[in-house]
Amino acid sequence: MKRLLFLIPLALLLAGCAGSSVSSPDDTLVVSFRLTPDGAPQYHVARNGLTAIDWSPMGLETEKAQLFRDFKKLSISSHSHSGTWETVWGEERMITDCHNAMTVQLKHLSGIKMDIEFRCFNDGFAFRYIFPEQEMQPMVITDELTAYRFVGDHEAWSIPWRTEYYEGLWTKAPLSQKKDTLCSPVTLELADGGYAFVHEAALFDYPAQNLYMQDGMLRLYLTPWRHNNQDMEAKAYVTIPFATPWRMVILTNTLAEMTASRIMLNLNEPCAIKDPSWIKPMKFMGIWWGMHMKSMTWEQGPKHGATTANMERYLRFAKAHGIQAVLAEGWNQGWETWENFSFTEPYSDWDMDYLSALAQDLGVQIVGHNETGGNAAGYEKDIDTIYRYHAAHGIHAIKTGYVSPIIRTKDGLQWNKGQSGVRHYRKVIETAAKYHIAIDNHEPVMPTGLQRTYPNLMTQEGVRGQEWNAWSADGGSPCEHVTVLPFTRIMAGPVDYTPGVFSFENPVMPQTRVHATLMNQLGLFVCLYSPLQMACDLPENYVKHPDAFRFIEAVPCDWERSVLVDGKIGDFCIFARQERGSGNWYIGGITDEEERTVDVPLAMLPDGEYQLTLWTDAEEADWQTRPYAYEIKEYTVCNTDTLHIRMAAGGGFAAQLLQN
Ligand code: NOJ
Repeated sequence: MKRLLFLIPLALLLAGCAGSSVSSPDDTLVVSFRLTPDGAPQYHVARNGLTAIDWSPMGLETEKAQLFRDFKKLSISSHSHSGTWETVWGEERMITDCHNAMTVQLKHLSGIKMDIEFRCFNDGFAFRYIFPEQEMQPMVITDELTAYRFVGDHEAWSIPWRTEYYEGLWTKAPLSQKKDTLCSPVTLELADGGYAFVHEAALFDYPAQNLYMQDGMLRLYLTPWRHNNQDMEAKAYVTIPFATPWRMVILTNTLAEMTASRIMLNLNEPCAIKDPSWIKPMKFMGIWWGMHMKSMTWEQGPKHGATTANMERYLRFAKAHGIQAVLAEGWNQGWETWENFSFTEPYSDWDMDYLSALAQDLGVQIVGHNETGGNAAGYEKDIDTIYRYHAAHGIHAIKTGYVSPIIRTKDGLQWNKGQSGVRHYRKVIETAAKYHIAIDNHEPVMPTGLQRTYPNLMTQEGVRGQEWNAWSADGGSPCEHVTVLPFTRIMAGPVDYTPGVFSFENPVMPQTRVHATLMNQLGLFVCLYSPLQMACDLPENYVKHPDAFRFIEAVPCDWERSVLVDGKIGDFCIFARQERGSGNWYIGGITDEEERTVDVPLAMLPDGEYQLTLWTDAEEADWQTRPYAYEIKEYTVCNTDTLHIRMAAGGGFAAQLLQN
């Protein structure tokens, strides 16, 4: 670890600023800090000696103080850290955290003490504002002035901030043309060929950040509190001591480095659950797709999906095919009106005691479903009773849902990504942990790496998922969509996209369908990371293609290592991942509406021979005309081999490599 702190370059001294810097362990990044003559904190980022982010504003505004000017520097301290830690589950088992840090202690004209802590990694940097213990009243934060003055009009992938619960199509345009306020994260394709990922880490008790372009800078917009259906000035209520979430930017030369960055996890606190050994990644099926395709209903009636008989059928199918769990939606009372859902009273055609005993007998888990309809306050009020009920029936994973970007919290109607919503989601995770329950959160706040601290927060929606391909009036997501997600939404955390559709006819909405070949659906299991991974189609569709379903049966969802083999945002991506606890590897590839042939060098494999099973699109495959056309081949390979694979339009491939 070298050069933690050095004097600011001469030019800055001449400009009358006293400043300080911290460099990454490999010296590629240098983050500098200064106070302007009027005491405004600013930072600057150089990458390989060139300015990547020019001097940019920092600070906060509160109801009482302008904490973005009139500061004096008290002191600077620094430290370095180098170590590794083991994940409970993840894309990687061991994570390296190697960074240099610098804390600048500031004192404001009003007497308030504020520290800014910087961390500089080889692949990015972060900072946060800290209010240390001091004689001080609680504060109402009305604005955060943090901004990113990127040098260059980089291409940016984003969704607008009013996209309901992040379920939108990501679009690309130069930063200067992004007129909307944007959801965080934003992914940048830098003019010099590199990549940046702008997001936040460790969102515990603060509003989620959003971003907007102004004066050539990407500025922060904190999600506001609401009162009487109006957004308020107030963004966060904080008591001292307090630290904001980390403002984080991953900066890398390649997409492979960007997807391998673990800065966000490193910036979160270590696991708070004493013994997390009960938290297990798993694949699950579910009484679910039928409702979205409208062949079943959530509410009780002639087409009711979650009946005892149907669940028994699913549980037995899961057992026979090595799928660890089954989700059931619509098992509980309340679906007729979506109001006053009960989470402890099943419909009369659902025998909870029988099914829970059967599941335990079969060794298959039930994934519970708690759709709140946005009534977070009602859910919180009964949360202990609800989780006790589920745990008593052997249910240790629950899919939660809110289906409203404005939810009713105990503070009234609030943005789900405002401070009150963030507090609710955290309460859910913390309470669930007490009952050994893992959470799959739908309509969440964007993930920020909290799964390091609470590994029972296993996966979240926050994406335009597969269900849109069942009923969206626009015909379903374009093929490109899934090739954008690994570099945007999934960089923020695991996603419950629900891959695995094996049937492409849509009798109810014939104009809407899954824009994919069957092989693309297999590739998604490797490309779209989730430790709770749903195989979303119906058993009767899986049995039509048992040789393709074999890949879903086999593919794990917990990894020792993950490598992006190749990819281009919005065009294609290929991931290779080593199964945790074995020497076996799995590779998945997906492409957009362009057919393409790719080279997949097997250089990531350790020495030795592997039995390769390869599922690929057949010659005539095409997502529109021949989605079911595929081939399966077997070879013996080693790490000097390269696979040449053709992906059809909307296609993909999947590979299993078993160590000999
Ligand atoms: C929206 C969720 O995303 C979906 O998965 C679920 O089936 C419905 N809400 C009903 O809860």
